[in-house]
Amino acid sequence: MQKDFSSAVFDNSNGAGTPKAFGDEISMLPPREIFRSDQRDERLFGGELGCRQGPRLRDDEVTRIRELIKERLVYNAGNLNRKEVDLISNCSLDQYHTVSSHFDHQKMLCKAGRILSKEAVEEIRSMSIFDYFKEGLGSFDLADEDNVGHEQVCFRVVRPNMKEDVGSLHCDSWFWDYYNWPTPAGQNRLKVWVPICVDAGKNGLIAVPGSHTEDRLYQTKLAGHKIAFEPGFDISNLDYRLFDRPAGTTFLFNYFMLHVGAANISATTRVSIEFTVLY
Ligand SMILES: [Fe+2]
Repeated sequence: MQKDFSSAVFDNSNGAGTPKAFGDEISMLPPREIFRSDQRDERLFGGELGCRQGPRLRDDEVTRIRELIKERLVYNAGNLNRKEVDLISNCSLDQYHTVSSHFDHQKMLCKAGRILSKEAVEEIRSMSIFDYFKEGLGSFDLADEDNVGHEQVCFRVVRPNMKEDVGSLHCDSWFWDYYNWPTPAGQNRLKVWVPICVDAGKNGLIAVPGSHTEDRLYQTKLAGHKIAFEPGFDISNLDYRLFDRPAGTTFLFNYFMLHVGAANISATTRVSIEFTVLY
């Protein structure tokens, strides 16, 4: 059964289908505990829940990431509609929806258009949250899933009330299986998702704690250039939880954990970044 992640999910009535927010059960652990040696198997990451809150970017770092994403959007817009590029330059990132109709949004935010440049990734890599990974993991890399030739950080843009801007319920391992991306020998994966413009409680990421412990059936479909996953199991009674933490707070989760972007019922555009840590 397909679940509708529309406004009903957020009607605050606490009725069926309304995801509760994650509570203290995912609070941040010292890095050596979350990455302790018996968890250096990607299947075990995050323990029973399969996820944890991680460190939070400083406010000035969040501001800088907003600038880097905006630069990328301006670059993309310049390739699509040079005359109107100032519309993007002059609007704040969370107001992107007010000017998006002037551009081909799907082309603007195709996968290649959502991958930040090598220089931007290097700058983000020097930010405070990576101290946590260094302390817990020693050396690590960020995956280059799309083989662009450098470590990847991608961003996502979800406009208010635009269901087509969010995908379907999935595990990130499904993408690797579909595209036959090889995991470097001896390395494990974990996913990091970070809200950059967020209206907590009205948009964000929904995940299913504990879902990483089962292998599940699914089908892959092509929708235009995008792939979509259709779960082959009942998704109506899963324990959905919303990650509702403030901008800059990292959410670390198991590569086999079910998750999906929440429909955006805020009046502002939701923007997030994500990357895969290989350790
Ligand atoms: Fe994902």
